[in-house]
Amino acid sequence: MIQVLDKSFEVFITKDEIQQEISSLAAKINDDYSDKDLVFLSVLNGAFMFTSDLMKNITLDCEVSFVKMSSYSGVESRGRVDELIGLGDNIAGKDIIIVEDIVDTGITIDKIISLLEPEGAASVKVCTLLYKPDAFKGTKRPDYIGFSIPNAFVVGYGLDYDEKGRNLDTIYQIREQKKQRNSMLNIVLFGPPGAGKGTQSERLIEQYGLIHLSTGDIFRANIKEETELGVLAKTYIDKGQLVPDEVTINMLKAEVAKHESPKGFIFDGFPRTIAQAEALDVFLKSVGTSITSMISLDVSEDELKVRLANRAKTSGRPDDANPDVIQNRIDVYKKETAPVKNYYESQDKWVMINGLGTIDEITTRLFAAVDAL
Ligand code: IMP
Repeated sequence: MIQVLDKSFEVFITKDEIQQEISSLAAKINDDYSDKDLVFLSVLNGAFMFTSDLMKNITLDCEVSFVKMSSYSGVESRGRVDELIGLGDNIAGKDIIIVEDIVDTGITIDKIISLLEPEGAASVKVCTLLYKPDAFKGTKRPDYIGFSIPNAFVVGYGLDYDEKGRNLDTIYQIREQKKQRNSMLNIVLFGPPGAGKGTQSERLIEQYGLIHLSTGDIFRANIKEETELGVLAKTYIDKGQLVPDEVTINMLKAEVAKHESPKGFIFDGFPRTIAQAEALDVFLKSVGTSITSMISLDVSEDELKVRLANRAKTSGRPDDANPDVIQNRIDVYKKETAPVKNYYESQDKWVMINGLGTIDEITTRLFAAVDAL
């Protein structure tokens, strides 16, 4: 995936595919024009790369010229006047192939053909690398077509997006607009101890501009600041009881209210039960949004144990070092998350990410999953 200005593009036609297609286009032209007096008219700017590669495969004794369409306001006439800049006097009686990078609506090519008419060419044909049949409204379908492509914006290999991207050796297609989510990206992130949830959530936050809502952090901050809710939560915690969902949700509400037009939230450590998930849904609905997805990082138990044992060597955390404690944490995680996972899965909102591999590999998978939401 690449970024050109404000848009993301993905690989659409590789450089090998382009070169292969160009060599077969050239072979056809070599065949068709073996006994002709041929002039290639390459239309700038977009066709410069295609023309260059095409010419390397043309074995005919031919000429190559470059033209540019220009449209200006006439002094006397009303409306716009089109002009073909760079057209020499080498056209009359010759066979012309106009070389285009892309024929989209076909308007440009129709204009070029009409501007060539007075020049008295023996024949005029069109060779284009790309053709968008669904967008085409012109009168002359190109005679030589490299690729017929869907009606989606492409960039690279001479084609630009706002003058950028022409130098790319591959053709990229614009990424489909994401489904219109209710404008916010709200993720519930799950991962067993050792799955790398902390690192990955930091990356998600940075990439998507999200706000991290960890219920553990919120409790601690509220208790420290002795907010009304914090004082209330502490009464339960001090008695060794779970803080009631209502109190937790109210803390989350207060936290969410602190942010003006947020891009979205990552919920970390919450919800842990179906009741909490339902309460979260009700709350988010009341502020006009919803959970976009629950994402869980999937790592096998054996791998988790290896990772935690390794972490223990450097973290000094006693809970990482004891195999019984590790097993217990994994068991608690599985027991806790299973019902919540089922809750989101039944709403078609559960996404599992393979949590094996390097941190970067996992991030790539995670971003791809989020982009597809
Ligand atoms: P037309 O619609 O066939 O007249 O094409 C007009 C011009 O629009 C082309 O020569 C390109 O410069 C530009 N164009 C059309 N579609 C694309 C695209 O997908 N990417 C980049 N430029 C495009």
